[in-house]
Amino acid sequence: MTDRSGRWEIAEYERLAEIAVAAVTRHVEESQIGDVPVGSPPPMPELIDELGLRSLIRDGGLDAASFGPWLARMLERSVRLHHPAQIAHQVGAPDVPSAIADLVQGAINQPMSIYEMGPAAHAMERVVVEWMTEKVGWPAGSGGVLTHGGSLANLTVLLAARAAAAPDAWVDGVDGTLAVLAPPGSHYSVKRSAAMLGLGERAVVDLEVDEYERIVPGALGHALERCEAEGRRPMALVAAACATSTGLHDDLEAVGAFCRDHGIWFHVDAAHGATALLSPEHRHLLKGIELGDSVIWDAHKMMRTPALAAAVLLRDERRLEAAFRQEAAYLIYEDSEDESPSLLERQVECTKAALGMRIFMNLAFRGEDGIGRYVAEQYEKTARFHDLIAARTGFECLSPPESNILCFRHGRDPDEQVRLRERLLADRRFHLSSTEVNGERWLRMTITAPATSEETIEGLLDAIEELAGP
Ligand SMILES: Cc1ncc(COP(=O)(O)O)c(C=O)c1O
Repeated sequence: MTDRSGRWEIAEYERLAEIAVAAVTRHVEESQIGDVPVGSPPPMPELIDELGLRSLIRDGGLDAASFGPWLARMLERSVRLHHPAQIAHQVGAPDVPSAIADLVQGAINQPMSIYEMGPAAHAMERVVVEWMTEKVGWPAGSGGVLTHGGSLANLTVLLAARAAAAPDAWVDGVDGTLAVLAPPGSHYSVKRSAAMLGLGERAVVDLEVDEYERIVPGALGHALERCEAEGRRPMALVAAACATSTGLHDDLEAVGAFCRDHGIWFHVDAAHGATALLSPEHRHLLKGIELGDSVIWDAHKMMRTPALAAAVLLRDERRLEAAFRQEAAYLIYEDSEDESPSLLERQVECTKAALGMRIFMNLAFRGEDGIGRYVAEQYEKTARFHDLIAARTGFECLSPPESNILCFRHGRDPDEQVRLRERLLADRRFHLSSTEVNGERWLRMTITAPATSEETIEGLLDAIEELAGP
């Protein structure tokens, strides 16, 4: 309830915050213990009715007395990311400091693209980006920006690559001669970006891959020849660290060397894997990342921030500013003494959430060592889960994992994998995903909750055997 002037009624904020914090604390606590069902949503129309969503919009009526019970129902119908059996997607179970950052941001609302509109949040983004470019291993002159997710980050990078390859494209559009080289399993945002940038999906030339869908460096020359035969010139080449489906890494050193030798913009999509730079035992997986002209890094995956907080990083930050050539006189005071530092010339967004605050808070409380340890623990657990699964009769894994993503299957029937996943979810016992690799169907797990253990995976395998029958 607000008073008649619309000002905050401070007692209302305190009361609702107290109710919300208590409910969320209970939700996370029981999720971590794992003895509540992992959750399986009813059909959406039922859920809309159950939570009274339409009537609450139409008639209002939520107040301090009804908020607690309503929130409890809402949480019950939310995915429990902290639950040990929640092993489906690449969405991290957020850590406490960044969860608190969002609580603070929700109240003070710092749209910080321009320094004067959110000075502390703006400064945090600048410092976080600087720190990330150091972690990638780039010298001075590198830089970047935070953006709302890896897909937008890939779009931003490819826009910068387009500006480098065709500087007039901003004004004149593109002429159909550009190409993006990428493995067929690259994240769908790569193809989508090519279409959005006016290149058309057909401009994405498939790179040859091995049985694990990793780029074959020795075959890169063929792709280049195919590209040239089609009358196209490569605007960028994309490699994955790691791939969305398999969690496996392309050979960045070899691919990077090829790009350097042929003058091709090398883009490393490290949305998922870049956080392994913080683990001394795992950073070798990213060897060669420093050869990239650009890198994307999602903090909402392995840095444990709430969605979203993604970084666009460039070895030469001037190439990012060259990507956006539009002027907005009311915001950007070029050559003005009064100019307030701005990120507008580097990003798609005008108003932007305080993304850097989420990342900064986790770093400030946990340190890069703490986050590195988290990554190491999830990666090492996943390697142990591989051994457990591979040792069970009837199960097989695609390959030993290189991250916290692991593909496995029970038997080889593709429909059976889909059926098993659906049954496990319907029983509210386990939430995992499924993917196709090289035309074959696999079950897929992504281990992000610290609570997931060997016992969880033993339970999963037992449940699968039980559902599959003799
Ligand atoms: C390799 C890779 N790139 C990009 C993305 C897109 O990230 P976002 O979901 O933040 O848009 C993903 C997400 O799964 C990914 O795995």
